[in-house]
Amino acid sequence: MTSSDPGWDRAPTELFDEWARGAVRKLPLYRRLCEGAALDREVAERLLLAPDPSQRIPNLLLAAVHDVVLSADDGADSVALRAWYASAVDEPRPVGDGADDPWPHFRSLALQHEGVAELLRTRATQTNEVGRCATILLALAGPMAEGRSMGLVEVGASAGLNLLLDGYGYRYHRAGAGNGSDAVVAGGAPLVLDCLLRGPNEPPVPPAVPVISSRVGVDRTPVDLADPDRARWLVACQWPDQPKRVIRARTAVAMAHGRRPRVVVGDAVDDVARLVAEVPESALPVVFSTWVMSYLSAERQRSFVSELDHVGRERDLSLVFAEQPGLVPGLAEAGVVPGRPDGAADGSATALVRVDWRDGQRRAHRLADQHPHGSWVEWLG
Ligand SMILES: C[S@@+](CC[C@H](N)C(=O)[O-])C[C@H]1O[C@@H](n2cnc3c(N)ncnc32)[C@H](O)[C@@H]1O
Repeated sequence: MTSSDPGWDRAPTELFDEWARGAVRKLPLYRRLCEGAALDREVAERLLLAPDPSQRIPNLLLAAVHDVVLSADDGADSVALRAWYASAVDEPRPVGDGADDPWPHFRSLALQHEGVAELLRTRATQTNEVGRCATILLALAGPMAEGRSMGLVEVGASAGLNLLLDGYGYRYHRAGAGNGSDAVVAGGAPLVLDCLLRGPNEPPVPPAVPVISSRVGVDRTPVDLADPDRARWLVACQWPDQPKRVIRARTAVAMAHGRRPRVVVGDAVDDVARLVAEVPESALPVVFSTWVMSYLSAERQRSFVSELDHVGRERDLSLVFAEQPGLVPGLAEAGVVPGRPDGAADGSATALVRVDWRDGQRRAHRLADQHPHGSWVEWLG
């Protein structure tokens, strides 16, 4: 949930109804579960166990039950419900009526399972979407061409999986085109991220992943991947009806066990300059932020740019962000959200922007529109 999306003054049944008809309408399992909760006040009001009103959102209950399904819990309802979850079994049972209806098992876990109640009381939904690395890599093509290594500083880094972008492979492809026309970077990596190219322009796919000389993230509540419960929660917050995303998250979490990135507790605005100062002088600091700025007030968004302006007067620096323009009015007021070069109005797409400070001068480039999770990109630059 974002600062501009208050849901906590609404009846929980209403929120589930809205989700069933909106966010999860194409996902049979989650649509059925949200439809069930929309008609069942007792289940929907389990959301009220969350002490933070901004967390009283359907995804919290869905994630809490998903977490129990993914755990080794051997209660009858957990075992039965698992059959419908593509994140837990290879061939999930189709959602239907009668014995094919997952709702009674979900309802029972939602109302009676102490583990679900505990998660509702103590956790907040949190994701770390590695698919976004596919568009960040394209945004880095410009700085890479300058020939310097990079010091990555990610604000709102969650578990820090995107700080490991040089460990993943990338495949950029056009709809309907054969494999031969795909642009592939580091195709032998254990996790290859697919990104569909839209629109007439070809993006600058770099020949290789960048050379990263330092990396650090900051998050107000980082996910500690060393804790198996926390790592499972990160996966539980994904939607089981989207098995590709779940597999991607699991693979990235597994890869991070060998080289866990440093993510410190802190604030995107207050700590960014301090972390940039840690980047070795020989490297270009690259700050990046994906779906984080919308959690900040417009004033804090402006302060974020002003912090970087201060740094940019002293040393070269780049900022890459992927954020929805309507949710970042403070960045726009600070002059770092240029319109689309073709003059088209912004819709709900995520804007990919790079801001470069070189020799004390700031220049913002509107590079692309993209899917929020990086599954497609329309290059504009
Ligand atoms: C939607 S998640 C995106 C995580 C990650 N950037 C990604 O793209 O997968 C937003 C993250 O921003 C963090 N966050 C929100 N406000 C923050 C702030 N003021 N300072 C640091 N982190 C913040 C949250 O804790 C959460 O991990």
